[in-house]
Amino acid sequence: MTHREEGERTNSQAHSRRVAIVGAGYVGLSSSVCLAELGHVVHAVDIDARRVAGLQQAVSPIFEPGLDDLLAKHRTTDRLRFTTSIGRAMKGAEFVFLCVATPAGANGAMDLSQVRAAAVAVAARLPARTQTVVVIKSTLPVGSADEIEALMREHAPAAEFTLITNPEFLREGRAVYDVFHPDRIVIGTNDEGSAAELANLYAGLEATLFVTDRRSAELIKQASNAFLATKISFANQLAELCERVDADVEVVAKGMGLDPRIGAGHLRAGLGFGGSCLPKDVEGLRASAIAAGVDLKLLEAVQEVNRRQRTRTIERLAEALGGLAGKQIGMWGLAFKEDTDDLRDAPALDIIKQLRSMGVSGIRAYDPQAMGAAMLMIPGVELCTDLYAAVRGADAVLLVTPWPEFKEASFGRVEALMRGKVLFDGRNQLDGAAVQAAGLDYWSVGRRHVDAASSPGRQPIEAETISATER
Ligand code: UDX
Repeated sequence: MTHREEGERTNSQAHSRRVAIVGAGYVGLSSSVCLAELGHVVHAVDIDARRVAGLQQAVSPIFEPGLDDLLAKHRTTDRLRFTTSIGRAMKGAEFVFLCVATPAGANGAMDLSQVRAAAVAVAARLPARTQTVVVIKSTLPVGSADEIEALMREHAPAAEFTLITNPEFLREGRAVYDVFHPDRIVIGTNDEGSAAELANLYAGLEATLFVTDRRSAELIKQASNAFLATKISFANQLAELCERVDADVEVVAKGMGLDPRIGAGHLRAGLGFGGSCLPKDVEGLRASAIAAGVDLKLLEAVQEVNRRQRTRTIERLAEALGGLAGKQIGMWGLAFKEDTDDLRDAPALDIIKQLRSMGVSGIRAYDPQAMGAAMLMIPGVELCTDLYAAVRGADAVLLVTPWPEFKEASFGRVEALMRGKVLFDGRNQLDGAAVQAAGLDYWSVGRRHVDAASSPGRQPIEAETISATER
């Protein structure tokens, strides 16, 4: 099949089909509600009985804006059901989506055990004499779909199915929005008929279809995440330079992003990238390239800069406080980014470990959504009920996750509660002038720090202002 690039849009109404979704995590749940909303009948299966019991009552196991409402809606339409039985989920299914996790495994390579197990379980239940379209949404290293297909055919020689790679590009915290507004739908298969069937399943979504072979589709997904990580590390390395030469990384990134060839996205300097995808996909792409005899050196640097960004933050905090031993630290945010309760590979975890090894006397932390996960994953940190409780008695406050509520804080109240006066904005999220006006020293990433007593820092000049002036 040739590539169909720009311009093909799926916008007619979908004809209702039966879909089984294997795995009810971020990708599986978002795909489930999206397909139910498009009019299909979706039966999702997960091995976690508690998760399924919750979902049957329309209770989402993850914090994801918009998800609860759609779960509740489709509980009444009866187009979305949850089960622990793969046989029940697959009954009458014309499509089976594999949405299980592919976590980091040994030597950085992805651990495909869950996908293999799910594929074998699906193969065993595929009906005879009926063509089923099996769709891999999970992120896989290049060449994996071929291996999975061979495994399925070995276990179910008589089954009739086609296996399509259809990677998911959603972001956590924006998952529901992203599944309804994808930039592109990548369909990897050489089977034109199945590609068209899958494209029809998505009819109703406005998106560019990109049909290609399976290996290219697999690589598109991993390479996209690796490239996003590269942009972030570029911004973070630039931040270090900006701190030395008294430039402002926010202004530099904004100016760079005005070039559409560069683009403004994922150029925010901060504490580096975390989460369940970017770190794993950079590592996974490197590992599969090495297996193919190619050393992707650029990605090694991307990882190194990312690690260093966390260490650099600790070093700069120590500089601000004249050493960390015996100091009390308040932390704003724990989740790997805003709008999620996910702590997987969150910069906060590394930072807490490093702060402890530097002998801080205590850490008090607050996150609007991740406190439940933090109770399980972060022992030894005092978890607080709000952002003010976290700063009480602190020598320094470190903003780790850019939740909007931190922007709205009363810095006067923060100053009154703290013992010291360092506010370190690890995400360049706050209004430095307001922080400074409250009598706090404002430290941020890739910019000169401003003491409470010094004159205000440079304000970025908006690009819009410049063009207006030129006109
Ligand atoms: C990412 C991809 O964006 C998504 O397309 C893919 O499907 C899954 O992986 P996600 O992990 O949800 O999504 O988060 P993303 O928004 O990309 O952020 C990843 C990390 O980078 C976060 O820790 C975030 O805080 C950080 N980040 C992001 C920056 O430090 N700077 C930026 O400019 C953008």
